[in-house]
Order: sequence, then structure tokens, then C-alpha cells
Amino acid sequence: MDQARQWLRDARRIAVLTGAGVSAESGIPTFRGDGGLWRQFRAEDPATAEAFSANPKLVWEWYNWRRGLIAAANPNPAHLALVTLEQRVPAFTLITQNVDGLHSRAGSTNIVYLHGDIWTVRCLACGVSRKEERPQLPELPPQCQCGGLLRPGVVWFGEGLHQDRWRAAEQATRDADVFLIVGTSAVVMPAGGLAALAKRGGAKLIEVNADATWISDTADCSLRGPAGSVLPHLIED
Ligand code: OAD
Repeated sequence: MDQARQWLRDARRIAVLTGAGVSAESGIPTFRGDGGLWRQFRAEDPATAEAFSANPKLVWEWYNWRRGLIAAANPNPAHLALVTLEQRVPAFTLITQNVDGLHSRAGSTNIVYLHGDIWTVRCLACGVSRKEERPQLPELPPQCQCGGLLRPGVVWFGEGLHQDRWRAAEQATRDADVFLIVGTSAVVMPAGGLAALAKRGGAKLIEVNADATWISDTADCSLRGPAGSVLPHLIED
């Protein structure tokens, strides 16, 4: 912990990758492992274009349920610690796989939303994207003004990432002196490959996770514990 804290103090450029574990203590279940989110689904089932075209109402019910959970949640000490860290270093990029928006609500500013934003919708017919912040959409599946079907503004399995966002994530990772990876199983690519990219670029790799992951052994420092307890200590001056 002391060594990792020192690396963070000395760093000029920090990139952070977060996953569902950072929001777990806000009451939002993670995807995989004990208590995983997906109720009766496997992680990938409702989050595909195929599932959506087969049954848009069912997929939307699942997103409505998640929107309700997220709307009732608040940022936790892990989100807040990352806000403090951003304020301390000249260059800071927060790359997140989370679509819950809790990093923004906490006050982080330079955020790359790799997997999109659950609070936006996009029309399959006219392509327009817009914010939709009512937690529970009254009519499922929702329709665009043009009559087309609206889908959640998130990235599904089998879909490419938004190119500009991915480029920004890669660049920040390559440039980083320290790469901090928090609360992610890192099994979903390409996000899960960023830690290796950071190491190739010479960054110190610090992992914070409740459990060991496949990247724990390659990390320069792997801190085991809940992010809401570990991160505030890690960023102490
Ligand atoms: P996962 O559910 O795969 O992993 C969550 C990680 O957080 C696990 O390694 C847990 O051990 C850890 N964890 C749980 N509680 C924690 C806590 N309080 N503090 C620290 N760590 C904790 O979630 P992601 O890695 O985010 O993608 O999953 C990646 C992607 O898979 C998601 O963005 C989503 C999903 O399917 C799409 O929907 C495209």
C-alpha cells in the first residue's frame, strides 16, 4: 500500500480503468461472480443486438430494472476518492466500463465511457441519440418521434466500441505513469487488455479488487479489498 501510494503521489499522468466493482458498494450488483447482476440471465444474453431484435420489450424490461437500481444509488467513497485523485495530478483519465454515470455524479470530469451510458437512448431508424433520464420508461419498448424503435445507448456484446472513445482510452493508457485498475474482472475485451498495454508503456500497474483476477499476478501491486475502503487509503497524502 505504501509503495503504491508513493507511485500515485509521484505520477504526472494517471489513467484509471473501472468496472462494476467500483459501484458495488453503491448497491449496484456486479455482473459476474457471487450475487452477479444478471438475475435469470447469463451476462451476455440480454446485452446483444440479437436478443434485442428477438424481444425488445424483454430487453427493455431488464434495462428499466437496472435504471431503477441505478437511480436509487449514490456514489460511494471509491467514486469520491477518484475525484480527489483527478484534482491532484496534471493529467488524469478515468476510463470506465460502467454505464451507470456514478463517476460523473461524484464529480469526476475527464471520463471515457467505453461501454456507453444507460441514460441515453438511440433510434434504430433515424440514428438520433438523446438523453432519457426517467428511471422507468412508461412504454416498452420506447419509440422515437420518427416512429423507430429506441435502444439503450450502451455497447452490446459483438458490437465495436465508439472509435474516438477507444482511441482516447488507448492514448491515456500508453501515456500513463501509473495505471490503476479497480473493480473489474478484466475479462471483457478490449477494455481488459488495457492493463497489459499500460505495462508495455512502462506504467506501474496497481490493481484494487475484492478478489484475485487474471491480471493480479502481472500487477506491480495488487490490493485486495472493497474499493470503497481501499481507494480512500490509497490516495491519502
Ligand atoms: P464483473 O462483474 O465482470 O467484475 C466485477 C469485479 O469487481 C470482480 O472482479 C469482483 O471481484 C470485483 N468486485 C466486486 N465488489 C467489489 C468491491 N466492493 N470493490 C472492489 N472490487 C469488487 O464486471 P466488469 O469487469 O465491469 O459490459 O464487467 C465488464 C463488462 O462486462 C461490463 O462493462 C459489461 C459486462 O457484461 C457490457 O455490457 C458490454
